[in-house]
Amino acid sequence: MPLRPPIELRCEYLAEPLGVDTSAPRLSWLLESPVRGGRPKSFQVLVSSARELLRSDIGDFWDTGMVAAGEAPALLYAGEALQSCARFFWKVRWWDREEQASPWSEPASFVTGFLYEGDWKAKWIGARQVREFRSKGTVLLGQAGADDTQACAVYLRREFALKEKAALAVVTISGLGHYELRLNGEKVGANVLDPGWTDYHKRALYASHDVTALVRDKNAVGVILGNGRHTGSYGYDGPKLACRVEVECENGERIIVFSDESWRTSAGPLQENGLYFGERFDARILIDGWDQPGFDDRAWDRAQTVPGYPLVSQMMPPVRAAERLPAKSVTRLASGAYVFDFGQNFTGWTRLTVEGPMGAEVRLRHAELLNDDGSLNVGPNENAEATDVYILRGGGTEVYEPRFTYHGFRFVEMTGFPGEPGLDALEGCFVHSDVERTGELRTSNDLINGVHRNTVWGQLSNLMSIPTDCPQRDERHGWLGDAHLSAEEAVFNFDMTAFYAKFLDDIRLAQKEDGSLPDVAPAYLPRLYPADPAWSSAYATLAWLLWEHTGDSRVIAKHYASLKRYIDFLGQNADRHIIRKLGKYGDWCPPGSVVPKKAPVELTSTWYYYHDVLIVGRMAGVLGRNEDVQRYGKLAESIKAAFNETFLGESQYAAIRVSPVDNHPNQTSNALPLYLDMVPLDRKDKVLESLVQSVVRLQDYHVDTGILGTRYLLDVLTSNGHAETAYRVATQKSYPGWGYMLAEGATTLWERWEKLTGHAMNSQNHIMFGSVDAWFYRTIAGLSPLLPGWKAVRISPHVMGDLSFAEARLRTVAGKVRSAWKRTEDAFVLDVAIPVGASGEVHIPLLWHGAKIFESGKLLWRAGHAVDPVPEITLAGDDGRRVVFRTGSGEYTFELKKSG
Ligand code: BGC
Repeated sequence: MPLRPPIELRCEYLAEPLGVDTSAPRLSWLLESPVRGGRPKSFQVLVSSARELLRSDIGDFWDTGMVAAGEAPALLYAGEALQSCARFFWKVRWWDREEQASPWSEPASFVTGFLYEGDWKAKWIGARQVREFRSKGTVLLGQAGADDTQACAVYLRREFALKEKAALAVVTISGLGHYELRLNGEKVGANVLDPGWTDYHKRALYASHDVTALVRDKNAVGVILGNGRHTGSYGYDGPKLACRVEVECENGERIIVFSDESWRTSAGPLQENGLYFGERFDARILIDGWDQPGFDDRAWDRAQTVPGYPLVSQMMPPVRAAERLPAKSVTRLASGAYVFDFGQNFTGWTRLTVEGPMGAEVRLRHAELLNDDGSLNVGPNENAEATDVYILRGGGTEVYEPRFTYHGFRFVEMTGFPGEPGLDALEGCFVHSDVERTGELRTSNDLINGVHRNTVWGQLSNLMSIPTDCPQRDERHGWLGDAHLSAEEAVFNFDMTAFYAKFLDDIRLAQKEDGSLPDVAPAYLPRLYPADPAWSSAYATLAWLLWEHTGDSRVIAKHYASLKRYIDFLGQNADRHIIRKLGKYGDWCPPGSVVPKKAPVELTSTWYYYHDVLIVGRMAGVLGRNEDVQRYGKLAESIKAAFNETFLGESQYAAIRVSPVDNHPNQTSNALPLYLDMVPLDRKDKVLESLVQSVVRLQDYHVDTGILGTRYLLDVLTSNGHAETAYRVATQKSYPGWGYMLAEGATTLWERWEKLTGHAMNSQNHIMFGSVDAWFYRTIAGLSPLLPGWKAVRISPHVMGDLSFAEARLRTVAGKVRSAWKRTEDAFVLDVAIPVGASGEVHIPLLWHGAKIFESGKLLWRAGHAVDPVPEITLAGDDGRRVVFRTGSGEYTFELKKSG
């Protein structure tokens, strides 16, 4: 059978990226084969400077020849030195063990960013005089009521001419806080709220846009700058731009236009803009043709050069209005206002279509909830006004979409609309970092499907170039705890590699001299140093998660030194290995509270110290630093001993006691040490019993955990023989539980277990309880990477409760993985798919005594023994509850039949 060509070519984990600013980018692809046991023996990659060369199989920049297939279907570029701002074309083919060659893949390309110091050259520019306004509300959490000075949007423009036809035209741009780039009257690209957030003193991100199709002989570049997280209380200064247009003409000539004093600036119709309070756009003062060539800008000011920031390419999926949502209903209130319901809590804004007289003012307020009388309940927004105002120009249909704000909402109140708005007067725009969906999950249980669905909505709503805590109130920061607790779920559902790689850099750059990390990154809130160790664990946890899911050790190599400094910092702040001082939030948001009610903060802080030391020790192993392996191994042992000595009682770990007769075990205190196997063997059964007692007897199959305990509880129950109990907790319909949120109409996940509709700490769209979705993938579908980068896949489904089927599909870096099972009265059928070049470890649960296992019709196993040999399947053993097989790559159908 002929081999299939490689598919899904990626450069640095991105499809067709622009702005690649590493000189040795990672090129990767996926292999598919209908044959079992398919394994690549070698690959060949060609990288060319021209499409035609590649077509003729010439790799003028790199021709690897036939190279042995390494660990992953990927190579780090090692050809001729790449030039900045140039497009490269590449393709790949593979040979199998029988030396059969595949056809070449379809070509892919990447455009480089600035690879060498000094390549950028553009100056940072801004307006000489920025018009300002006092903003309402706050821009920083904890400054409720404090007024802030914000800038009116700044409009900038510059024209340029081309004599020759463009072969490649690229605009490289960073506009702070955010920019909208226009060329010859059109918005360039689909990015919004660009560039992604960073600590600008450390680095600002630039994006690259291919504008070859837009350039003509006469051109005008127009840029609008908004405030974002740059202006005002954030501690940076006014809106600023660095921009460079580079055109390579067909005759080889290069034209480069930089941002400099020759650009012109003006204020414009976008009068006010702020992330939290919204926008005010006055269409009466639209400047016709300002972004077109030939516009008379003599009345505009000259731009001036301003101090800038270091620039780094935005090598991550940009924020986009990725999905449009129609309104489900519109209701007229007694006050005359209209309330639109989108039927879904989400992040972004609405697109307004309106016709009416000049000066009519349409006001849009956003909220997650309604009051009983149908009016907006803006309680969860706290100090975020979340209001967009559009003033009509008059004389035809007008369409308005905000640019430099976003809201977290399901409902929109509209006032001032001329006439009666139809449902189509507003369209929802779901705005988030446009990460690729790579995981799907479906089960026979609607509650689980509902929780999964809400998690996916909640996760996307909280990806806004950083992982945010929530999208609706005046917060929306990169809280490290929220990020790492939900990260595994995110990695199952989406390709998060480039996104988290950027966030890890945010964390690394936020590290202080003393090794400490902040609770949020970028560290816009300076008072949040040093972090609660349960929050700053994101640094080690995310880096390790990326390594597990990609097998790309660059992430470990890059962060290792900083992680060591962080561990040293924890050590310096420990009192005989116990962290007593750094904890602040601990097991945050348990039932009935924001602050922990049962698990002591010292216990959770010290547990994370141990957790992170273990990870950094494992990283040392990956990097071959044997001395560090020893060192962290010893340190971990000492922390574990101190932890048990300090917190372990006769049969349970320490709890916050509310009265002298309170000796009840709680879940978090006991689940955490069980999760990391810290409990001395002679006490393990008792501790487990305490945990189960808390879940079953004290809480009647409900959680009593905050966000930390919740992340680990279900795993601990499952791996200690209590999967059915875990299932009952996960599918619990009453309070507190995920099913309760569903029953109360949630369409995302809440910040608290309670349905709170008032003001303060009751976001309806937090992602930190989303960790349950990873448990669905790992336990119900049974999918996990057994080796980094999914080179070996474990498929170990748990057949629990009322489940009759479950299916999960993943696109991993190794290829497509699938686990789909169904159970009937007398059979259990499991379909699996293992990527080419990977191996599988398939666990078949022995549901019936005396059952037999078949694969594609052949009797594979009976009563503890392998029967018919099937190529690519070997029996690895059974423990009376599960039979384990090892497989090669390919698709398999295992069938367990009740004998009779
Ligand atoms: C955020 C949380 C965050 C917490 C720190 C809150 O205001 O919304 O999700 O982790 O502060 O405790």
